[in-house]
Amino acid sequence: MALALYRKYRPKLLSELVGQETNVEILKNAARQNRLGHAYLFYGSRGTGKTTTARLIAKLLNCEKRHADAKFADLGEPCNECGSCKGIDSNSSFDVIEIDAASNRGIDEIRNIKESIRSAPVGSKYKVYIIDEVHMLTGPAFNALLKTLEEPPAHAVIVMATTEYEKLPATITSRAQRFLFKKLPKTKIMEKLAGIAKAEKIDIEPAALELVAAAGEGSLRDSESLLDQIASFQSKIDLETAERLTGRVGLKKVEEFASYIIKNDLKGALDYLATINEEGHNLVQLAKDLIHYLRKVLSIKLNPGMENVFQSELTNDEIVKLKKLAMEAEVQKTVKLIKSFIRAYSEMRYSPFAIVPLEVCLAENLG
Ligand SMILES: Nc1ncnc2c1ncn2[C@@H]1O[C@H](COP(=O)(O)OP(=O)(O)O)[C@@H](O)[C@H]1O
Ligand SMILES: [Mg+2]
Ligand SMILES: [Zn+2]
Repeated sequence: MALALYRKYRPKLLSELVGQETNVEILKNAARQNRLGHAYLFYGSRGTGKTTTARLIAKLLNCEKRHADAKFADLGEPCNECGSCKGIDSNSSFDVIEIDAASNRGIDEIRNIKESIRSAPVGSKYKVYIIDEVHMLTGPAFNALLKTLEEPPAHAVIVMATTEYEKLPATITSRAQRFLFKKLPKTKIMEKLAGIAKAEKIDIEPAALELVAAAGEGSLRDSESLLDQIASFQSKIDLETAERLTGRVGLKKVEEFASYIIKNDLKGALDYLATINEEGHNLVQLAKDLIHYLRKVLSIKLNPGMENVFQSELTNDEIVKLKKLAMEAEVQKTVKLIKSFIRAYSEMRYSPFAIVPLEVCLAENLG
């Protein structure tokens, strides 16, 4: 089986990470000055680069070329060519130990780590322990980890990763250098997907690419997996195919639906909704996308400066359309619309007739 796209395109350099500029800058500088820490905590939503960065740290610490060549070390990147870098990339290094805390939650597992962390690395300078989903550890396991975290042996580095920072005790978080991994903006996801599509000769229409990027909801891995899935199904991907396979409608349809609504065109909105429904799209997702969109209309209306905030989520054309609709929108009415759609959305999720709450909402507010 071919290597999954998201693994094939895992960044091999810090500078290949997208959307995490601050983290990249700090870690590169630390590497240049040979001042990487002994305990890190990477937190933030899934598919944003936490595990990737943990492995990059392991590579930086052990890269043979970095240790031999001061000029190279000044780049603050691993060489990706030496035995150590290659071993880490192929998951065959004995000195990089990845532990999934979700399935190894207890005190015994942590005792094992404490035991094994003492012995010297086998083939490299540092042993790197990557503890994923660290929030899943039990209370006693956290306690057992504290001391090791505070004073690991000189040859060891611990990198913890989690999607749920709030579940970690302060005793743990305060003992590590913390890095937030932000959700990735749609435009950045689109750029990386476009690069992959080109390299893999996947013929994908721009609107379909946009949809796949949006469907990831900030997770590059999710978008990459989706692209993989669709590409294995069909080599030429148009918007319709992407809509069918993701169960979402493209932003163009959301824009058009919102436009009927803002223009107070009840008949147009109902007809349009019926069409979308007949095409078999997921209406719950449509309602969610519509709420997000109307919220953007309202924001721009109230504060035109919000345009800058939306720039990472929307393309230039989309911003032009958004601003046009905001001009036509009325503040009070839009607030009321958003409230009603939120109510319709929660009703739809449990209703056997998802379309009805939406239709009622349109009838109550338009015309
Ligand atoms: N910031 C990023 N830049 C580039 N690719 C990324 C980024 N974040 C995630 N990816 C892609 O998603 C895949 C999974 O990322 P990973 O680091 O395992 O995410 P996390 O550990 O945060 O869930 C990577 O192999 C890569 O293809
Ligand atoms: Mg991960
Ligand atoms: Zn190397």
